[in-house]
Amino acid sequence: MKLCLYPGTFDPFTNGHLDVLQRAAKLFGHVRVAVAIDSTKKALFTPERRVEMIRANLRGLPNVDVVSFDGLLVEFARQQKAVAIIRGLRALSDFEFEFNMALMNRHLDPNVETIFVMPAEAYSYTSSSLVKQIAKLGGDVSKFVPKNVAQALKRAHAGK
Ligand code: COA
Repeated sequence: MKLCLYPGTFDPFTNGHLDVLQRAAKLFGHVRVAVAIDSTKKALFTPERRVEMIRANLRGLPNVDVVSFDGLLVEFARQQKAVAIIRGLRALSDFEFEFNMALMNRHLDPNVETIFVMPAEAYSYTSSSLVKQIAKLGGDVSKFVPKNVAQALKRAHAGK
């Protein structure tokens, strides 16, 4: 059974991420969401919380699981015997960053392919940082993230 990794910071997981995950789950025998522990981004949620929040949204996706990882993605992919890395491409503006990352990963390990999936257009402008900004300022993020994530954002910004 072919395993693919869906890596990201997922701070937090959005409906756009879920859309990519659902598409990937149709293409591969197994999809493992890989939450980066040492992302370059300063995260609002701990890796454990991010994993937990994603796990709560896997109903109907029996071939998906969620783990966290440390260190190089290609190293983790090799350890897990993953044949591919899935990334979402929302708009042209994602392309340059994703292209560089895919080529660098290929340089580090020529055996791991990066495959791009386009989420539904409705999510083309959704991003984790915008969602956090809106939630922080008291805006409604319920259309952009799963219910448990919206609640967690509310609690985080209420200081609880
Ligand atoms: N829907 C909604 N938003 C999406 C999305 C989609 N389908 N696809 C991407 N995004 C958004 C995210 O919301 C996020 O927005 P933000 O930057 O405003 O917060 C951004 O696009 C990307 O975040 P995410 O999807 O969580 O991934 P990432 O780019 O943070 O992940 C890693 C990067 C973890 C894959 C990368 O840093 C990595 O591999 N790290 C391990 C170390 C390593 O190997 N480094 C060498 C890499 S060459």
